[in-house]
Amino acid sequence: QDERDNDEDSEDEAERKRLPNALIIGAKKGGTRAILEILKIHPNVRACSSEVHFFDRDENYNQGLKWYRQQMPVSLPGQITIEKSPSYFVTPKVPERVYRMSKYVKLIVIVRDPTRRAVSDYTQSLERKPDNPPFEEIVIDEDGEINESWSKVIIGRYADHLSQWLKFFPLSQFHFVSGEELIERPAREIQLVEQFLNLRPHIKEENFYFNDSKGFPCFIGKISNSGSVSKTHCLRETKGRKHPAVKEEVLKRLHEYFRPLNKKFYEMAGRNFHWP
Ligand code: A3P
Repeated sequence: QDERDNDEDSEDEAERKRLPNALIIGAKKGGTRAILEILKIHPNVRACSSEVHFFDRDENYNQGLKWYRQQMPVSLPGQITIEKSPSYFVTPKVPERVYRMSKYVKLIVIVRDPTRRAVSDYTQSLERKPDNPPFEEIVIDEDGEINESWSKVIIGRYADHLSQWLKFFPLSQFHFVSGEELIERPAREIQLVEQFLNLRPHIKEENFYFNDSKGFPCFIGKISNSGSVSKTHCLRETKGRKHPAVKEEVLKRLHEYFRPLNKKFYEMAGRNFHWP
């Protein structure tokens, strides 16, 4: 029995807040919001609408598991509770803290070509700091090498982060989602997540349509935490931004930089993501 079970032994049948059974731990800009929103189509999934940042921020973690549980939506027995905070994947103290909550919790990681992920992350940062130097100037350091101290590069070193998590959790407790496939073939990709979460098959091709003006799939049949069903639903305009053009030679260098790390990650994760 882990701490979660001990904390929740009583009132098994009631609708109440429960600690998460599954966490979407990252990776930032991989498509974490999309996967959470798609999973909400399933009637047996309840999810926090905002990122809780319990395990990575001391001011939250120090409030304890009771506080964390309070942040969860209410659920019925048989429904699973999911939370996503993408910084969990890359924050060194998080795996042990999660393990202390539950050694059985399921862990979902959505990954995307780390070069494109870096550009996406940089694009997001431009909103807060429009005066940021161009991507090319930050990603290459004064010695002409890839700037390995830049968070946009560090986050894409997936094998490094996964190895920290594997010190606490077996590989069988992880599920890796392809960010690219979630856009190309969302139904197929989400069905793999349903299987991993032991959810009965529910989400189908009919739950998706490609929205030309957004340039991304949008969703049909989202169930809110209050139980109402919205007909169609796209992610906000902050998801699926236009990226600034980055010089081809710099992208090529980044791809070369990430290639051996990606290969290692494919081996660790047991899935080839076919990034360039
Ligand atoms: P871009 O904005 O760079 O295109 P996160 O939610 O982890 O921040 O990830 C954001 C990314 O989710 C977006 O990055 C986009 O590529 C991806 N994404 C996947 N499915 C999407 C969808 N249906 N609608 C919008 N963005 C989606």
